[in-house]
Amino acid sequence: MNEKPKECETPNTFVCEDYEIEEEPQLCEIDKSKTYKGLVGIYVDESKITFIDGEKGKLYYRGYSLENLVNNSSFEEVAYLLIYGNLPSKAQLSNFKDELIKERTIPYDVISILKSYPRNTTRIELLRTSVSALSLYDPDDYVFTEEANIRKGIRIIAKIPTVLALSHRIQSNLPVIEPSEELSHSCNYYYMMTGKIPSEEFKKFFDKILTCHADHSINSSTFSCRVTISTLSDIYSGITSAIGTLRGPLHGGANERVIRYMLEEIRKKENVIPWVQEKLTNKEKIMGFGHRVYKAWDPRAKILREISKNLWSDVEHVEKIPDTNHKREHESIDNIFEMTELLADYMIKTKGIYPNVDLYSAGALHALGIPNALYTPLFAASRSAGWVAHAIEQFSDNKLIRPRLRYIGELDKDYINIDNR
Ligand code: COA
Repeated sequence: MNEKPKECETPNTFVCEDYEIEEEPQLCEIDKSKTYKGLVGIYVDESKITFIDGEKGKLYYRGYSLENLVNNSSFEEVAYLLIYGNLPSKAQLSNFKDELIKERTIPYDVISILKSYPRNTTRIELLRTSVSALSLYDPDDYVFTEEANIRKGIRIIAKIPTVLALSHRIQSNLPVIEPSEELSHSCNYYYMMTGKIPSEEFKKFFDKILTCHADHSINSSTFSCRVTISTLSDIYSGITSAIGTLRGPLHGGANERVIRYMLEEIRKKENVIPWVQEKLTNKEKIMGFGHRVYKAWDPRAKILREISKNLWSDVEHVEKIPDTNHKREHESIDNIFEMTELLADYMIKTKGIYPNVDLYSAGALHALGIPNALYTPLFAASRSAGWVAHAIEQFSDNKLIRPRLRYIGELDKDYINIDNR
């Protein structure tokens, strides 16, 4: 792993020695006569942040397995690990948490802008626009040392939950909630969104969900972030690019679509199979399934499956899900975890396509009472830790990312004057 490509005997071909994914023959084989649409299987750089073993379904942050971190670390510890490369000591963690708490507030001007935006705007658009605006108020805006970039990165991670919660409450005509200085990162985020301080059990689940989304190597949004940074632009621009990329339904937008089809289209267990059969017949993609790198179980989906199972098997809890739609409709909607299981079983057995992180996060977030409009933004709140780590890594050993496009249009066409066209 991480070796430079070796030149092969066939001209124009380079091979990296790394794991191979079955049925992905192009992985690491660069042939200049081919076009690698979607950059499938192409390494664009080297990284020490995250390793995904797509074949075995394993994920490591800085060498630690995701399962280990989910079971033992808080989100703050994981964010520290991603940015600095090592697990913090008690004192380092305490300082890091204090910095995050100190940076939770956002400038009054940005709150005013949030209030002025049109209603019915998606929260992810509001976040994208606000992160861009926040750079103007950052005291280090024009300082580009690594220390300043880390300070800016910490501010971004700290402020994203505040922007999201505030913008959601403004859009929903609810009173805004100031950040608390007493609560952990995830509890404060939950509190600002819902107005409730989570129970110990909720806190544990919510922290694990954030940890599962914290990084995923060079996924599309991280790639966007690194491309922007590679021009030696600033970290706010990198993260604004990343948020725009995350918004798409093929990336972070999938979890919102999963909950929508569960609540609005499927609703009952007996509808699961006919629904999926119809979608597949119409050649539609089923959101929450498939992955560019994992060809087996996504390890994050396994963890979220357990969380969702736990939450949905507590009948008393399900009765009280703090969501207005659910209150109104829960009698006519079956247990979401059970419907998800039927869907997953069908997709694996008939198509060999496995659930990804979004399938189970949708049910888990719904059971935690997170408003549906905040599912994709929640992904951004958590992934901001990874984006910051990648921005710092890109700055530290930069090479402008500028691939080629194979031109397939015409050349040397006769120019016709506008009067004669
Ligand atoms: N539902 C139905 N079929 C799917 C599928 C899904 N979710 N994901 C992949 N497939 C099928 C494709 O139709 C294609 O079949 P074909 O070869 O017969 O045409 C094959 O599997 C390969 O899919 P492709 O889209 O080319 O793979 P990719 O690596 O480009 O795409 C995703 C990966 C994630 C974009 C894709 O799986 C997808 O669109 N999933 C749904 C969106 C989603 O959940 N995104 C969150 C990702 S974490």
